Amino acid sequence: MLNFFNKLFKNNKIKKKIISLNKIKKNMLTNKRSIILEHNDEDTSTYSNFDKICQKSLYLEVTLDFPSKTLFGFVTSTYHYIDKNEKYLILDLNGPQIKNVSYIERKKLYPLEFEIISNVPDKKSLGTPLKITLPSFGHIIPNELKIKIEFITNENCQAIQFLKKEQTHSKKYPFMFTQCEAIQCRSLFPCQDTPSAKVFVTAKTFIDPPYKMLCSGLPKSVYWDVNRQKNVIVYKQKISIPTYLIAFAAGKISYEKISDRCGVYAEDDLVQIAKNEFINTENYLKKAEDYFGREYDWEVYNILVLPFSFPYGGMENPNLTFVSPSLLAGDGSLSYVIGHEISHSWTGNLVTNKNWENFWVNEGFTTFLERKLDGMIFGEDMENLEAMVGNSELENDIEMFGEENNYTQLMPNYEGVDPDDGFSSVPYEKGYQFLVYLESLVGKEAFKNIMQEYIKKYAYMSVDYNAFKEVYEDYVNDNTEGEEGKNILNDIDWDTWLYSKGKPFAEFNFSSNLSDEAIQFAEKYFVKNANYDGDYNTFKKWHTNVKVYFLNYIMNNIKKVDDKVYKNLRDNLKLNQENYNMEVKYLWYQIALKTKHDDVIPDLKKMLLSIGRMKYLKPLYSSWYEFNKKDAKSFFDKNKNLYHPIAQKNVASVFK
Ligand code: BES
Ligand code: ZN
Repeated sequence: MLNFFNKLFKNNKIKKKIISLNKIKKNMLTNKRSIILEHNDEDTSTYSNFDKICQKSLYLEVTLDFPSKTLFGFVTSTYHYIDKNEKYLILDLNGPQIKNVSYIERKKLYPLEFEIISNVPDKKSLGTPLKITLPSFGHIIPNELKIKIEFITNENCQAIQFLKKEQTHSKKYPFMFTQCEAIQCRSLFPCQDTPSAKVFVTAKTFIDPPYKMLCSGLPKSVYWDVNRQKNVIVYKQKISIPTYLIAFAAGKISYEKISDRCGVYAEDDLVQIAKNEFINTENYLKKAEDYFGREYDWEVYNILVLPFSFPYGGMENPNLTFVSPSLLAGDGSLSYVIGHEISHSWTGNLVTNKNWENFWVNEGFTTFLERKLDGMIFGEDMENLEAMVGNSELENDIEMFGEENNYTQLMPNYEGVDPDDGFSSVPYEKGYQFLVYLESLVGKEAFKNIMQEYIKKYAYMSVDYNAFKEVYEDYVNDNTEGEEGKNILNDIDWDTWLYSKGKPFAEFNFSSNLSDEAIQFAEKYFVKNANYDGDYNTFKKWHTNVKVYFLNYIMNNIKKVDDKVYKNLRDNLKLNQENYNMEVKYLWYQIALKTKHDDVIPDLKKMLLSIGRMKYLKPLYSSWYEFNKKDAKSFFDKNKNLYHPIAQKNVASVFK
């Protein structure tokens, strides 16, 4: 340590510096047992002191090793001081082993003291922060600091899933992917794991042949490292991003172009199928550009199809949206998920929620845009139908949580918990409905202008809902006469929208020809001796969303489904025979289980072994558990290792 300071301060003030260092050290020692870190007020899901000293850029050099199931290397970050009195740098960390921490000046490394704080109150969900003692600079504190940290992940890393070859589509090669949203980046490497502190990311990745390692940035160089005998790719993300958007994936992967700026990655033998499924991607991108009146900022939009254990439908990692293979329905009918992830390129990735309480600022806005795009492409009926399906999901989730549950608030309280625990359709659908309400007050054209202004004003920033509120209010004030604006704004009860529990307090009528048709069709099954001729053909031809709306409607009237109704549905619509996509299957199996029919169990088991998407797993296990506790639980216990750690935790919560 002394040596380091001798090098650092080659002037006659050196003695003073050493004394002050000793002082800090002493404080550190005396405080060691008494220091209890509190989470940050701005973002209760981080322990980092990003409001005092803030990350600006990250340079990652990482190697993925399949045999040992580890990711290792180093991260060099630059930080700038906001408060020059700050003596420590506190980073979020949850799992990786830290090897060395050094201060870099003029390319030279000087070791720094560090400590992993394990007596934090929310250790279980937020991890154990890394506290680094900063060099004692005396009076000449630099504006920026460069710090290098060497790390290695362990087998239990929550952000990574390593898949055996049997768990992939080809069953020939292993696979690996990361999932950092919401607060998992800290289990990859130490960082200020808060969406408030956006960073410029560069990553150099090393992997054994024949594998390829992808990252959520643009590839800048690709080469073969002769010394290390590894495939190397250097990625750069030229727009600053929140840490939850840092993503890696590796396996035996091929690429197919869809358009000049869009393409798809997948395991070699899936890539052509994936290309056909997502052939409309460029169209979605263009429509989104139209709505936002702004060009796509990220240059390239690629999709990566993951193996079946991916726990979400889609994840908006920049330049590299991750998707579940459950989207490969064969007819492009689940591409609304692509529309959703594309929309995040503006709402979420450009304008980012600054903490997880404001998650609806990402997801509610994105759901709103996703439906606008579907409206532009398939017509307003489809937009409304999707809103109705969303509303059914919202009602189901509110029922599952209970009307009084904190997570039924548009803005819940996440203090002391992992924000993933509160994941549900609430921020998506309540957020969506709030925006539809705000749109209805000013009209669609004006609302589009407001959205455009909002994106323009807050691009590259992290915000809470007040950013939008301000733009909305300014627009209304500037574009109305007399008392009109005031009257509009006075009518909006923001607090009730944001903080009330249970069902949204305003009701919407999203009905459309499509939903009317589905309701009529469903009602027929509830009357005796109806005529079912031609039903199969009608049902089969319906767009997935109509099928989904229909099945949701049946589920909401589950008490009317007796043995006869069940059999009529099953046989006339060939629900057990036809290979419908997973959106249809997961609803049909729930209907069967809720009405105590076990003829779906063999197919249900097949599905549970072939998909790890939480949207399906949780309600399926939950309905099966209600029907037959022992079988559901033992099947899960036997097979849970197929699922992603996040999904395992999420599903386990239904067995109470
Ligand atoms: N960003 C989310 C996925 C997510 C949310 C991951 C929270 C981790 C924590 C993504 O954009 C998303 O919303 N996916 C949905 C798509 C759907 C709403 C169209 C999904 O996975 O189902
Ligand atoms: Zn989303």
